[in-house]
Amino acid sequence: MAKVRQKPNVKAQKSGNKLTEAQIAVHWKEEEYFRPSKRFIAQANLSDPAFVKKFSEKHFPECFDHYASLLDWDKPWRKTLDTSNPPFWKWFVGGKLNACYNCVDRHLAKHRNKAALIFVPEPEAESATVITYQELYKRVNEVAAMLRDFAGLKTGDRVTIHMPMIPELPITMLACARLGVVHSVVFGGFSGEACGLRAADSGSCVLIYADGYHRNGKWVDHKASADIAVRTATKEGQEIDKVLVWQRYPGKYTSDSPMAAGRDFFINDVLKNYRRQIVEPVSQDAEAPLFLMYTSGTTGKPKGCQHRTGGYLAYVIGTARYYQDIHPEDVYWCMADIGWITGHSYIVYGPMALAATSVLYEGAPQFPDAGRPWRIAERLDVNIFHTSPTAIRMLRKAGGNEPKIYNYHFKHMTTVGEPIEPEVWKWYYQVVGKGEAVIVDTWWQTETGGFLCSTKPALDLMKPGSAGPAVLGIYPVIWDENGHEVKAGSGNAGNICIRNPWPGIMQTIWGDPQRFVTQYYKKYNKNPKSKNWRDWPYYAADGAVLPADGYYRILGRVDDVINVAGHRLGTKEVESACLTIPEVAEAAVVPAVDEVKGRVPVVYISLKPGVPTTKAIEDKVTSTIETMIGKIARPKTIHIVPDMPKTRSGKIMRRVLAAISNHMDTGDITTLANPDIVEQIRELVQGRNVGPLREGPEDIKRFGDER
Ligand code: WTA
Repeated sequence: MAKVRQKPNVKAQKSGNKLTEAQIAVHWKEEEYFRPSKRFIAQANLSDPAFVKKFSEKHFPECFDHYASLLDWDKPWRKTLDTSNPPFWKWFVGGKLNACYNCVDRHLAKHRNKAALIFVPEPEAESATVITYQELYKRVNEVAAMLRDFAGLKTGDRVTIHMPMIPELPITMLACARLGVVHSVVFGGFSGEACGLRAADSGSCVLIYADGYHRNGKWVDHKASADIAVRTATKEGQEIDKVLVWQRYPGKYTSDSPMAAGRDFFINDVLKNYRRQIVEPVSQDAEAPLFLMYTSGTTGKPKGCQHRTGGYLAYVIGTARYYQDIHPEDVYWCMADIGWITGHSYIVYGPMALAATSVLYEGAPQFPDAGRPWRIAERLDVNIFHTSPTAIRMLRKAGGNEPKIYNYHFKHMTTVGEPIEPEVWKWYYQVVGKGEAVIVDTWWQTETGGFLCSTKPALDLMKPGSAGPAVLGIYPVIWDENGHEVKAGSGNAGNICIRNPWPGIMQTIWGDPQRFVTQYYKKYNKNPKSKNWRDWPYYAADGAVLPADGYYRILGRVDDVINVAGHRLGTKEVESACLTIPEVAEAAVVPAVDEVKGRVPVVYISLKPGVPTTKAIEDKVTSTIETMIGKIARPKTIHIVPDMPKTRSGKIMRRVLAAISNHMDTGDITTLANPDIVEQIRELVQGRNVGPLREGPEDIKRFGDER
């Protein structure tokens, strides 16, 4: 199966003390290729070289017409791409369609009795529930009628949904899409406060909740966070008229939080008045926003990535079809949460547009033990599986042999969200995939709507740890800080960018188009007045290397974002939370390498004069972060330091702190205003003895550069 061994191709290039970005040497052992098993042959069209050729640069942008043609349009588009106002692209101009119709109604003729969703509750004693496309159709219509006539929502309104992984979440999203209501789903694990801020930013008057859910063997009282969300939104100037609450067990309220009269309503009760109602899907302009997805960036405030209806749906159906090889007869299980972009694109919109059977699992992968995912796969005969490196690492650590016990067979497995270590990839391939399944390592982002790099499943050779070539119609480039191309095979790292627009790219940042331009396009745009799309490459804020074989290896974020267990966390968000504590003078958050989660946040704080260092302050930091952001942002360690390492202009040198937390070389510190503090902090963190220094990964080496 292993085919070619490549030569290790990289060596360090240093220029004096300081490494320029382009010179950052990338040390890794080149991996052997794995040849996809012949057991499962891709059923999709990608095996046809003539088809692949249609996506060459010469055919841009019309190549994407094919993706759009996989959808049903009420009115065909006049023009594939309008680039007259860069970088605000318009896709499938003049076309009209409805996303819910495409994911539900159009499947009724052929697939009415087929499972659309199979819901697996966390408690193993509760059996799985199947929702057919027919039932989904009915339920989505009733919810749409309720949202329109009871909640008063109309096309273009925004609604914030803060829900766990239960079928009512995709049902609510599809009901919104039916009406042209823009949904903004906030990951269930975020705090009420985080939800309230997002609701305020999006201008939502309605919040949709669930009363509670099972997670890791515990009952989570989720409704309690709705009350905090409403308070937070109100403080931000956004009134919330209604909180609509799904009951996890219809007819039984399982939360201690009281229902506010006139504001809070049980959806299950209200729905009784909408039985049998059918709502015509609202025909939407291709450019009408479909949803917002908030994500972390370089500033403290999360940004609402706004995705369009036509281009987004075309891109996710195309990539789900060709890169995940999903067909109606497959049983597909993506273990991600719908509250993240992966769930939107590759649990809900992509697979459902393809009439897939999609498994929805409520709980933690390891509950009650590390065999759970494989039992689910065996029971439901899942044949396409999708998860993140963090989940793979966790399952490998907790039960490396468990997959062998169960009789399931995957034809295809996706990994997404973080760089995957070759060792972990090999376990995924050999043990989880039993050496039969092909793996696609898909690199992309919330902003990009769908995959950007991946191998063609069952067709391309696979290389552990490398995402692979760009997907159809995507033309990446790696540039150094000065805009010089880092050529394939040079062994240097640089910033990966996409030279062309594509239908899945976000439209703008909700309410902040200027930030959209600065964040993603300013860096490599040479002429802000240019009307030529070629002058507007998309800057992804990821470091990458490209060996001679054209397989991109993604090295991680180069901005102030930490990728914790595949979840994006803005270090500034965490720092802002720390600074709300009256005793805290300064805060700096840096990433530390973690064996399971990839990266974890480490918090450094200094206290105001006269405030003693106590455990109580540390606890306060943790609880404040959990309240303001959520448990996912919980720091691994909190260091209370006498002062921060600073430049002469007073800038905190986060890179030095990151180096200390990761036992790396702190580099040249002689130019600091207070170089002595570095040794003091080092001793505080690492103890008296200096251990061996580690090389450290690229994202940590570059951390803090951009401030
Ligand atoms: C990282 C998740 C390496 C990357 C879809 C990116 C990856 C960030 C991969 C986006 C991959 C995603 N290999 N790194 N296959 N996929 N990333 O917005 O740093 O939650 O910028 O989107 O995850 O995270 P987001």
